[in-house]
Amino acid sequence: MTGRVYPRNGATGGASVEFRHVSKQFESQRNGATVAAVNDLSFTVQPGEICVLVGPSGCGKTTSLKMVNRLVEPTSGTILIDGEDIRKIDPVTLRRQIGYVIQQVGLFPHRTVAENVATVPELLGWPRERIRKRVDELIALVGLDPASYRNRYPAQLSGGERQRIGVARAMAVEPPLMLMDEPFGAVDPLVRERLQDEFLDLQHRLGITVLFVTHDIDEAIKLGTKVAVFERGGRLAQFSPPAELLMQPANDYVARFVGADRALKRLAVMQVRELGLDRTRTLPEDAPTFTPETNVRDVLAAILPSPYQAGVVRTAEGQPLGVVTLAAIGDVLRAQASGAPPRRTE
Ligand SMILES: Nc1ncnc2c1ncn2[C@@H]1O[C@H](COP(=O)(O)OP(=O)(O)O)[C@@H](O)[C@H]1O
Ligand SMILES: [Mg+2]
Repeated sequence: MTGRVYPRNGATGGASVEFRHVSKQFESQRNGATVAAVNDLSFTVQPGEICVLVGPSGCGKTTSLKMVNRLVEPTSGTILIDGEDIRKIDPVTLRRQIGYVIQQVGLFPHRTVAENVATVPELLGWPRERIRKRVDELIALVGLDPASYRNRYPAQLSGGERQRIGVARAMAVEPPLMLMDEPFGAVDPLVRERLQDEFLDLQHRLGITVLFVTHDIDEAIKLGTKVAVFERGGRLAQFSPPAELLMQPANDYVARFVGADRALKRLAVMQVRELGLDRTRTLPEDAPTFTPETNVRDVLAAILPSPYQAGVVRTAEGQPLGVVTLAAIGDVLRAQASGAPPRRTE
């Protein structure tokens, strides 16, 4: 990673991150006792993945993240980025190549939005004109109008706007890796959902690798390509794709953490094209319509109040593929409960 030349243009993909038996003990300030914040953590995040670290408060998520940019040094074990031991990389150089977004954003209050976003490019000595262009690009990238935002101060922004600028600042040099610590925790649920969607879109376009911390299992399932579930004492309880977490929780702790409404959550990680569609039935014009990619929970929400208790799945071009029914969704839930594969009706 030290050999990279920044900025990298376009979707060049992200870095890989590997934790190898990483542990961190803190000395308690109160009584000098040792606190195991992170305990023998091993997992690998592939380039371009979003790995979400999730678990209750105090289970070592933030500590794990901070070890990646060397704000905290492990007591033992090794962290590798693109196969390189990060102990061999100067911390300041390392941090300039890793985006870091935290909940309170940490925007500099006496610097404008543009100056905040320009922080790292300035440190890297980019020419003025290039910085100016890049700043406007980034403000637009996170969904704000550069002309009306670039000269504002952080106090003149809403919570959601501040989070967006925090993301823009972290993206300034197109880092191959972003660390995000509960970045959307302080905004209201509606704004949070929009920020999550925008973030997914952005990440998808840029292909960067993200380590994302949250205590919210729903956020983890929505955003993660991999989810690392932590339990108290900084131990990794499970590391798997979200669907697997829902289908096959590794133990009772994970099952409880994932929640009693696991069945409904599973629907949110399935696309309607995975269901058996009725290809013979037709529905009136006003029936709900979906694309093959619509998640099954959204399908359920739309067809429950519909008089047809069913909806039409169409390609992006409008070609009908078949009808999805409540019964088909029920089949999937029952099959998952019994461990059998869902019945296909085609
Ligand atoms: N600098 C520190 N000094 C002492 N203990 C710490 C320090 N940072 C974190 N801890 C302890 O390590 C544990 C994990 O903390 P943290 O990683 O912040 O958890 P999380 O982000 O999952 O809430 C907690 O018990 C916390 O009190
Ligand atoms: Mg934390």
